Amino acid sequence: MEISVSLLNAKDKLLTVEKLNNSKIDYFHIDVMDGKFVSNKSFSIKEIKKISMKSNKPLDIHLMVEKPNIFIKNLKKISNINNITIHLEINKDINKILSKIKDYGMKRGIAIKPNTDIELLRPYLDNIDVILIMTVEPGLGGQPFIESSVDRINKIKELVKGYNILLEVDGGINDKTMKKIISSDIAVVGSYITTSSNMEDKINNLIL
Ligand code: DX5
Ligand code: ZN
Repeated sequence: MEISVSLLNAKDKLLTVEKLNNSKIDYFHIDVMDGKFVSNKSFSIKEIKKISMKSNKPLDIHLMVEKPNIFIKNLKKISNINNITIHLEINKDINKILSKIKDYGMKRGIAIKPNTDIELLRPYLDNIDVILIMTVEPGLGGQPFIESSVDRINKIKELVKGYNILLEVDGGINDKTMKKIISSDIAVVGSYITTSSNMEDKINNLIL
């Protein structure tokens, strides 16, 4: 399984990037919040640019924003972005946004909140590369993993059978909860790694 480190709860984000650049992790996960889709605000385009210049890992962008278009347009100018993931719950023409992400040469992701009906993913399965399964309510790092997510992950796995879609899990992942999500492809891990004084040790605990 691949590991995407969420920088949201890291005190010094650029220093964390520097320290993890030569570790075994696969991506840096950037949680962009607009203060509307979720109440907090995080990561300006300027900050993401700085991170991208420092990082030698590809960036995994999670847009928790009501209006992704403007962000996507600005992110286009930043190199080293693997994927942009938008939320299923926004009231926008999702297919149109997904095709824009593809035109810009990035992988397309859809994130789903813990209480959203998974059947709503079905119309997009032909047009996405990643599903980001939220295992906490979006908006905050450091929350506990919602246990009913395990069953949900299995159901989503069934839903995407036959499609070329990666399953990424986000929220409350640590050495214990990691064991519950082994059927997925990418684990987003934030606080468990970034608030530790020995990040290498924590990463090694996660590699199953
Ligand atoms: C929550 C974010 C997550 C979060 C993960 O809204 O999408 O990426 O920062 O952090 P931890 O691992 O601390 O739950
Ligand atoms: Zn996230």
